[in-house]
Amino acid sequence: MSDPARLDRLPEWAALAGHREEVAGVHLRDLFAADAGRADRHVLRVGDLHIDYSKHLVTDETLRLLRELAKARGVAELRDAMFRGEQINVTEKRAVLHTALRAPRDAVIEVDGVNVVPAVHAVLDKMASFARRVRSGEWTGATGKRIRSVVNIGIGGSDLGPAMAYEALRPYTARESAVRFVSNVDGADLHEAVRDLDPAETLFIVASKTFTTIETITNATSARGWLLAGLGADAGEEAVARHFVALSTNAEKVAEFGIDPANMFEFWDWVGGRYSFDSAIGLSLMIAIGPERFRELLDGFHLVDEHFRTAPAEANAPLLLGLLGVWYGAFFDAQSHAVLPYSHYLSKFTAYLQQLDMESNGKSVDREGNPVDWQTGPVVWGTPGTNGQHAYYQLLHQGTKLIPADLIGFARPVAELGPELAAQHDLLMANLFAQGQALAFGKTAEEVRAEGIAEEQVAHRTFRGNKPTTTILAAELTPSVLGQLIALYEHKVFVQGAIWNIDSFDQWGVELGKVLARRVEPALTEGAAVPGLDASTAALVAAYRSLRHE
Ligand code: F6P
Repeated sequence: MSDPARLDRLPEWAALAGHREEVAGVHLRDLFAADAGRADRHVLRVGDLHIDYSKHLVTDETLRLLRELAKARGVAELRDAMFRGEQINVTEKRAVLHTALRAPRDAVIEVDGVNVVPAVHAVLDKMASFARRVRSGEWTGATGKRIRSVVNIGIGGSDLGPAMAYEALRPYTARESAVRFVSNVDGADLHEAVRDLDPAETLFIVASKTFTTIETITNATSARGWLLAGLGADAGEEAVARHFVALSTNAEKVAEFGIDPANMFEFWDWVGGRYSFDSAIGLSLMIAIGPERFRELLDGFHLVDEHFRTAPAEANAPLLLGLLGVWYGAFFDAQSHAVLPYSHYLSKFTAYLQQLDMESNGKSVDREGNPVDWQTGPVVWGTPGTNGQHAYYQLLHQGTKLIPADLIGFARPVAELGPELAAQHDLLMANLFAQGQALAFGKTAEEVRAEGIAEEQVAHRTFRGNKPTTTILAAELTPSVLGQLIALYEHKVFVQGAIWNIDSFDQWGVELGKVLARRVEPALTEGAAVPGLDASTAALVAAYRSLRHE
């Protein structure tokens, strides 16, 4: 089990700190020049993923020392405890079993002595039957019309996963119907999502683990009003039952809202919100891509779960990627991590990872509540690669910050592009490879001078290089590959939390803002006095109220 002793007092940590001094002057150019086999040796194949980590600021010794650190921190033991269903979410006293959501039907995974796999598959079967009925037109709205639009109302983990995957797997979706996602409590979000929809053809999926999240309940209530107004005077509760389903762990609250419990798809408190996308929370995606493709996605997750659980440390991709992040955070003062997909379909992938990583590892006390004195989770950011190249890559190349990055790309464009657009694919990927190359190897002053550049320009046109990247390639972005990619990141985040000895599965940091918003709201709407309101916020509230009347 994870050693709660201070990380930075471990001999393994000291060994890494010393080693960092030794490699301080080493450039990736030297590492490759000295080792003809580096590019071939620093590659892992996990399922369909080809993971190249050769362009990292590490030697074999670095990797060995990092693995020693993982051993000292009991990463493998904590991993096994997670897979066994132990309560590793210590502050909420919960098991962490998103891995059970994608386990095969015959697996046995127990929580408090009960095998949860049959319940997981019972919900998947119920989802599949519902998805088939919606897709075939058998499930109709209250007026008998076929459902053509699905609107998922949820936020955070009840939105980002399906929204990201819907984009990622668009070529696999039933194109004749659309899924939209509403998350923001800004009424404009719901307005824009439904303004051109026919209520008679619209199905709302209210996704909320707790069913108490104010944004979601507010939007769901407004959506209900929109539906009933749109269907006309006769529409009542029976209409709501045809147009609203719920995804939740909280049957009581779902019933209170007025959704028929028969139309509720259940999940469990051992599924964290940001790890819930392959639970019932994926229903909108399942309706879009069909149950078979959804299963392929789950099998992709499971494949990487098994890899993480069983692969030896030297060949364990999530372990390796997690350790590399620890290395840069601790010894290079890296503050952020860029995820740069060279795929238009992955446009929401980084936003999804932001919650996964930053809500999990944005912590500053350890599992016992002691302040930590080392870097924890990085700022995760990024957008699809080529767009970023014309925006912020300048800073990656020549700025003063070290920002490790993941470059993600696919060998084949999606089939439906047709020959002309598919021909653009090599250009897209050439950009990915070029960026990895430029970031790693840069361009020396001598190389710039050799091009005949005037001396006063040389410094400006020099690229120091030595910027680490991981390149992740797969043949094609399929449902399975998407599942593999997400599970890779999930377990990477797990590894880092284990090393830092933080609880990666709670999220107390989001609570204070929620409480304060509830307290401040009456001041905005009614001008009510808020006892104890600080002077700055009180002045802003006053300015807000006066601006409103300008
Ligand atoms: O932001 C806090 C949070 O609890 C997330 O962890 C969660 O994904 C999101 O809110 C939505 O919660 P729920 O699914 O309960 O509505």
